Amino acid sequence: MNHFSVITITHKSANINHIGRYIPSFSSNSQELSATLHKIKDDLGITELLYLATCNRLMFFVVQENMEMNRNYLLRFFVHLHPNIPAHCLNDMADLVHVYRGTEAINHIFEVAASLDSLVVGEREILRQLKDAYDFCSEQKLTGDNIRLALKTAIPLAKEIYTNTRIGENSVSVVSLAMQQLMALQPDKNARIIMIGAGQTNNLVSKFLLAHGFHNFTVFNRTLGNAEHLAGKLKGSAYALADLAHYGNGFDIIVSCTGATEPIITETVYRHLLGAETDPKIIVDLAVPNDVAGVVKTQYPVHYIEVEQLRELAESNLNLRKEEVVKAKVLVAQKLEEFKLLMRHRRVERGMAVIPGQIREIKEKALNTVFQKEIAQLDDKSKELLQKVLGYLEQKYIGIPIKVAKNVLSEELAATEPL
Ligand SMILES: NC(=O)c1ccc[n+]([C@@H]2O[C@H](COP(=O)([O-])OP(=O)(O)OC[C@H]3O[C@@H](n4cnc5c(N)ncnc54)[C@H](OP(=O)(O)O)[C@@H]3O)[C@@H](O)[C@H]2O)c1
Repeated sequence: MNHFSVITITHKSANINHIGRYIPSFSSNSQELSATLHKIKDDLGITELLYLATCNRLMFFVVQENMEMNRNYLLRFFVHLHPNIPAHCLNDMADLVHVYRGTEAINHIFEVAASLDSLVVGEREILRQLKDAYDFCSEQKLTGDNIRLALKTAIPLAKEIYTNTRIGENSVSVVSLAMQQLMALQPDKNARIIMIGAGQTNNLVSKFLLAHGFHNFTVFNRTLGNAEHLAGKLKGSAYALADLAHYGNGFDIIVSCTGATEPIITETVYRHLLGAETDPKIIVDLAVPNDVAGVVKTQYPVHYIEVEQLRELAESNLNLRKEEVVKAKVLVAQKLEEFKLLMRHRRVERGMAVIPGQIREIKEKALNTVFQKEIAQLDDKSKELLQKVLGYLEQKYIGIPIKVAKNVLSEELAATEPL
């Protein structure tokens, strides 16, 4: 298990708004992301690599034998992600990082999949994000058998935890907590709503707003086609993101959630959007890093809802689920024991892969070197019979060690299963 590691920065060590700074700006460009991850792999001698970035974590799942993941290693790792950032920022990043090794790394992956490590414990979005991250890295040939087996165990385990505990009951998510905050402000159902971004998160927000009777929507998005698709569901109008700076129809609520790395609503854009209106506005900014410039929050009359602010609500959500977390951790611990055995099984299988070749070599040596002279004196019928007998023995011998090892490992596995 020592070949597994997790290198991560999460909401537990960093302010959520800062996590976005550490996520590479090219992470939404799959070609560039894949090329960088391959470079990291090659430069650091990593065998398998999985990359996951969400609004509250940056995570690398690494398979590498015998490597001390010291500060130097981490700095070399991060410089690939951020080639141009100043050395002191790279150092800050290394300070916030947590490295899990061996069994702890697998335990962490299992807990991440089951949302036990999420800001909002019990949310299911993380499982989709982890599966998408795996599909991407596996398509890009960054992962291999070890990460495949870990994910093949982690995903059903997460589903088992959602089913057999009440961890996801009255399902909560960053979006549902944000909507709870929004509704607490009692906005008018006729409010003019500007949606910026048309990705997964804003689609979830839209469903909520439609279900609660809001009906006046204008969608802006980098790709106009995606804005049109979302606006179609909302019966609203769609514009390209570039048109936001010239939009003059006013608004009451802005919901912004894009993968942009720089603020989209700068002070200039905001002033233009406000026009002559002076009443307080509501801004729901779920992007990490934020889509709205800091000055807008501090200098204008706004009710501002953002992910970092949801921490308090998330903590009260955790308190409600504390007992379920304990039950979930028991399931994680059991699965961890099974996974350890699975890994041993795999190692034995890999080791055994040489057996057929070695037995064949012994047979060939017996026929062609050790007993060559004696065999040459046999008639054709006897030679044919000898070949048949040796072929039969070869097949049987190959099977014996594999069968014995499988039996021993199955007995060990059965012994770890709960009564
Ligand atoms: N998923 C969650 O549970 C969750 C929760 C809270 C916060 N967030 C945060 O929400 C943001 C978006 O997440 P998502 O899950 O909705 O992602 P997503 O499904 O990948 O959608 C990304 C959206 O951002 C736009 N976008 C990406 N890069 C951009 C750029 N450089 N400039 C302008 N627009 C850009 C995309 O436009 P195109 O249509 O043109 O690609 C798309 O509308 C992220 O900051 C994430 O951290 C996510």
